[in-house]
Amino acid sequence: MFSLSDKVAVVTGGASGIGEAIVKMFLSAGATVYSADLSDKCVEGAISLTADVSNEEQLEAVLAEAASAKGHIDILVNNAGIQPLGILFEDITTQDLARTFEVNVNGVFYGIKHGPKYMPGTGGRIINTSSFVGLLGVPAGSAYAVSKAAVAHATKCAAVELAPKAITVNAVAPGTVLTPFVTNIPDNPEIPFVTQRTPLGRLALPEEIAAAFLFLASDQAAYVTGAVIPVDGGIAAGWEAYDLPPVDENITKVQSS
Ligand SMILES: NC(=O)c1ccc[n+]([C@@H]2O[C@H](COP(=O)([O-])OP(=O)(O)OC[C@H]3O[C@@H](n4cnc5c(N)ncnc54)[C@H](O)[C@@H]3O)[C@@H](O)[C@H]2O)c1
Repeated sequence: MFSLSDKVAVVTGGASGIGEAIVKMFLSAGATVYSADLSDKCVEGAISLTADVSNEEQLEAVLAEAASAKGHIDILVNNAGIQPLGILFEDITTQDLARTFEVNVNGVFYGIKHGPKYMPGTGGRIINTSSFVGLLGVPAGSAYAVSKAAVAHATKCAAVELAPKAITVNAVAPGTVLTPFVTNIPDNPEIPFVTQRTPLGRLALPEEIAAAFLFLASDQAAYVTGAVIPVDGGIAAGWEAYDLPPVDENITKVQSS
């Protein structure tokens, strides 16, 4: 078990699913943990600070509040996200795009922008939640997938920019995880679709994702930065082809001159 003894951590989206599992694991490892979420539901032992991560002032206020007790924060997990799936490019609305990026991308940017101000001179840890769909092209999930690809790339840019401050910046790219995000959708077609295509043949438990965050938050991960780590049962390594519609050979055939 990695120790986070004496560390102060802020976890966005800590009220449910992956974030809740991270909060529990960080508490068990000895950290003081603040959960920043739209919801004030909170794991016992953690401190709830309600905020919308897409609102820069609210997120900065959370970070300032979390830093006020010990004068700094050590770990920031930018995890809050929304997942509008099942939308083809031709059906995406301006509102879908805007809200997806406001929460999933802007929220991470605001964390990377303001978190370092509260981190000690000896360094800090920023860990973002990307997704396997941010590493692969997927049908009917483009706004979400592209937002998660942006998170992966922002992670690399921030890792380079913040390295002189000894702040490491990494991301975890989960496969499909059995959280309310996924299980609250009646007959969610993603569950059989992804299960069938995952080399390990099953979906993830939130604790299996949280374990990667614990490692990245620990002192032992001091030399890991700019990494986007898939924790996905192997799905980003290779999977069966999508059930795409049959190819129209009249369109795809190579034209001979
Ligand atoms: N569940 C999956 O299969 C899966 C896979 C890959 C990545 N992810 C990512 O993991 C993260 C957590 O997802 P989850 O499955 O635990 O979802 P979840 O719905 O169980 O939890 C998400 C939490 O984020 C909070 N939240 C949403 N919008 C917010 C906002 N604007 N400000 C503050 N809090 C907000 C919600 O209130 C909720 O508590 C998300 O970024 C998601 O995109 C999930």
